[in-house]
Amino acid sequence: MALKQHIDERIRFDQQVDNSRSYVLPFVEQTKALSSGVNVMEIGCGEGGVLLPFAEKGCYCVGVDLNPLRIDLANDFLATEIGRGRMQFVYKNVYDKDFLEKFRGFFDLIILKDAIEHIPDQEQFIPYLKNFLREGGQIFFGFPPWYMPFGGHQQVCRNKLASVLPYYHILPKALYKGILKIFGESKPVIDELLEIKDTQITIERFEKIVEESELRVLSKQHFLINPIYKYKFGLQPRKQIGIISALPYLRNFLTTCVYYTVG
Ligand SMILES: C[S@@+](CC[C@H](N)C(=O)[O-])C[C@H]1O[C@@H](n2cnc3c(N)ncnc32)[C@H](O)[C@@H]1O
Repeated sequence: MALKQHIDERIRFDQQVDNSRSYVLPFVEQTKALSSGVNVMEIGCGEGGVLLPFAEKGCYCVGVDLNPLRIDLANDFLATEIGRGRMQFVYKNVYDKDFLEKFRGFFDLIILKDAIEHIPDQEQFIPYLKNFLREGGQIFFGFPPWYMPFGGHQQVCRNKLASVLPYYHILPKALYKGILKIFGESKPVIDELLEIKDTQITIERFEKIVEESELRVLSKQHFLINPIYKYKFGLQPRKQIGIISALPYLRNFLTTCVYYTVG
């Protein structure tokens, strides 16, 4: 059974706004002052709700997504802010040459919220992001580590059991695909889930890529309960306890979300 917010775009937009205002923006503000004159880009912005609290702080915001339907929704939901010249939404692949040339060296902050795990070849992608940054620019990442109970994004499944069953996304690809078929999932859902399996990212791999990209971790927070589970499952967000957060590899199985700012 797919969750309500995967069906109702307005609910998803409102949840993006609330989550960003309560968690993403306060986390970013620990290392980056936000005010007018600060340019912010969200890659994989979806309906654009994550950016609204940043625009309300006076930042100029650009959202980019390769899904045209989601960009249409962002343009609709945020028409007032766009009309005031505080935001724009672009239907593009962030790798498109003309997009890079337009925004090279333009941003003080790049946001990737629940997006990096959908983008292939992160070893190439993370250093590529530096092309968009101004001097002193920072990048925020928020993502679910692959080995966490629902790291396969199985909550998008239509079948109720398939959507709540933990850890089976870790099984070998053919077996995972077979189980999804037995659960009666449609081809687009199975393709999406197998794509996420291909682009999976762990805490250790992420930190290694950041280091190899000559970026520094400026702040990090691991969560036992992802802040967005408040909307999805009615659970109160919880930070991960320090000892688990410090245990390489094992922590991935028990950490449902991580936030990082790098620069
Ligand atoms: C799970 S959604 C996250 C939406 C939003 N950031 C949020 O937190 O609700 C990931 C988005 O990344 C977009 N995306 C994936 N690869 C991309 C790329 N190369 N360029 C632009 N957008 C991309 C997808 O189209 C999708 O809308």
